Amino acid sequence: MQLDQFLDLARTRRAVRHFRPDPVPSEILEAVLEAARWAPSGYNLQPTSFVVVTDADTRERLCEACLGQKQVREAPVVIVLAADTRADRNNLDAVLGQDLAAGAIDDGYAAMVRKGVKLVFARGPFGLGSILARVVLPLIRLFRPVPSFPSVEGRVWAARQAMLPAMNLMLAAHAAGLATVPMEGFDEARVRDILGIPRARTVPLLMPLGYAAPDELVRTRLPMDRLVHPERW
Ligand SMILES: Cc1cc2nc3c(=O)[nH]c(=O)nc-3n(C[C@H](O)[C@H](O)[C@H](O)COP(=O)(O)O)c2cc1C
Repeated sequence: MQLDQFLDLARTRRAVRHFRPDPVPSEILEAVLEAARWAPSGYNLQPTSFVVVTDADTRERLCEACLGQKQVREAPVVIVLAADTRADRNNLDAVLGQDLAAGAIDDGYAAMVRKGVKLVFARGPFGLGSILARVVLPLIRLFRPVPSFPSVEGRVWAARQAMLPAMNLMLAAHAAGLATVPMEGFDEARVRDILGIPRARTVPLLMPLGYAAPDELVRTRLPMDRLVHPERW
């Protein structure tokens, strides 16, 4: 793909709120999820899962949890992104095992990642490690740089990870002639209950997906010089 084609894709994607009922072909749905799967993540921990909802009754219940936003009822597919705050425990062994088997990393690198992940995710007994880190890290920061600690950031860390697959998903869908709308306007606890999503997963985004109903959507963006700061703020 050429750069101008990519820019065109990025500029013409719209948050669409009216969908036709036509189903999404399964091979396109799979391709869109494949684009999401290849998004980067911290330590390659891949904490984001995708609950793919097509059932009309479930979408109706989700619509209610989304304060009646009707695109959730209209779109034939709703993808619910769930990010794992415990991806260190749940995914690290699998990720390192795969990367080692594929020759993507060596034992030394795997050991380094394991050590780093263990440190920044350390929660200690009853979460006391996270509480301690909250107190100690600002003091350490006085003397040396301190990176982001998922054990402290918790759901914020997980939600940040989920936004990258979400963007891949939206652009892939747009490239396939489909429409999406990213949504944060919902009651997370209710969405989790409806779909049986475990508590350690945070749900930062819902994504209705389908074919757009005819609509003229014009949006703007702030000018570049308001957003971009050459060299420093
Ligand atoms: C994190 C996030 C949450 C959003 N939540 C909602 C939402 O709950 N309902 C909705 O209709 N649109 C939602 N939007 C869509 C935005 O309103 C939309 O992206 C923005 O107005 C820009 O329009 P565009 O995406 O068509 O360029 C959300 C967008 C983002 C990025």
